[in-house]
Amino acid sequence: MLKLKGSIKISGDKSISHRALIFASLSTGKVKISNLLESDDVMRTLNVLRELGIKIIKKGSNWLVYGNGTGGYMQPSQVLDCGNSGTTSRLMIGAVSSNPINCTFIGDKSLSKRSMSRLTIFLEKMGAEIKLTKKDFLPLQVSGDVNLIPMEHVMEKASAQVKSAIILSAVNLRGKTKIIEKRNTRDHTERLMSYLKIKFKKKILNKRSSLIELNGPYEIKPRDIIVASDPSSAAFFLVGALILPKSNIILKNIAINKTRIAFIDVLKKMGGKINVKKTKTVSGEDIGDIYASYSSLKGIEIQSTLSPYLIDEYPILSIAASQANGTTIMKGLSELRHKESDRIKSITKNLSKLGFNVVSKNENIIIKGSKKIKINNQKQIKTYGDHRIAMSFAILGLLYKDNLVIDNEACISISYPNFRDHLKKLTSLY
Ligand code: S3P
Repeated sequence: MLKLKGSIKISGDKSISHRALIFASLSTGKVKISNLLESDDVMRTLNVLRELGIKIIKKGSNWLVYGNGTGGYMQPSQVLDCGNSGTTSRLMIGAVSSNPINCTFIGDKSLSKRSMSRLTIFLEKMGAEIKLTKKDFLPLQVSGDVNLIPMEHVMEKASAQVKSAIILSAVNLRGKTKIIEKRNTRDHTERLMSYLKIKFKKKILNKRSSLIELNGPYEIKPRDIIVASDPSSAAFFLVGALILPKSNIILKNIAINKTRIAFIDVLKKMGGKINVKKTKTVSGEDIGDIYASYSSLKGIEIQSTLSPYLIDEYPILSIAASQANGTTIMKGLSELRHKESDRIKSITKNLSKLGFNVVSKNENIIIKGSKKIKINNQKQIKTYGDHRIAMSFAILGLLYKDNLVIDNEACISISYPNFRDHLKKLTSLY
């Protein structure tokens, strides 16, 4: 049987890459970005920024972004195509909303089914004029205005994208913006702002909730940014190592931001031999090395309070659960219905097609693990165009020779163009 051995350099983090480009575009001069993820989603943000008049060039392996300052976006001559990228659309709708320009945002079939009103309700309250398709979807037109009203926003739903979009609007507004997050989410935007010396306050209200206070407009001085490697991409190989006998891998320089590596605590609780060693801090993010080796996993209950921190890892955690002894219950997954695919459906349909005992009930997924399942002929995995579903089942497929056929391999390049090469490297030592 295949095993994973050795080490590879995981590509740059997707969330940080989008933010590095956007904040660089808002800076007052040239910013060098290293280890930028060159995936389809991130290239969407890069191209949208170019449409808005930002000069961006590649030099060697780095990217140079010539920022135009906050409020410096120019009227685009074309529609802004966000492809499959939720992060590009949400963050850039926020960013342009406080510039005096008119923009039309479009996306692919999957993105055009994802809710935009979850963000635009906040911008509209501030006075932005926004026209949505069927009141919720792309294509969408924003008439930006530098005189939007800064105010207090209360976010009932956990979303790092929505929080970041409001912040990106606020950095160009005169006055105080307050954002209360009822449930904390990943904090890359805040970390990058601190690194770029953008003055804001963050108060912890209680264990789950916090308040962010900005006082714009800001002048952001250019500062080079190094993008830490992506823990959500690392998660595929880490789970691969846990489920393939005799595996043993080390992944270095991974972002170990607490809001991103909750999946490691979950895997440890399942009995996974997986360890994190912090090495240093780059551009405001802690990074470290992660070790994982083959383990006997057991089923556990994963509480819904963790869901904002596991949001992109449920697909690969389901694969770990399928190989565990006993039952895993993943609770409170309603947000999974609003991702690149309806992930509750894409996880349960594919696992049950392979013969696993899996059900979804009241926005929970319940998986009974089994190592006994044999797959002797080819089975097609339906990705629904979702990159994380494709990579998760590619990892499960390592247990079944070449018998799991991914229906749309190409979608992997949305977040991880080097996935197959890296997987080959880790499996090629034996
Ligand atoms: C992201 C936040 C998450 C995540 C997405 C990237 C971000 O979405 O699913 O892949 O970069 O802010 P929400 O927090 O909006 O659910």
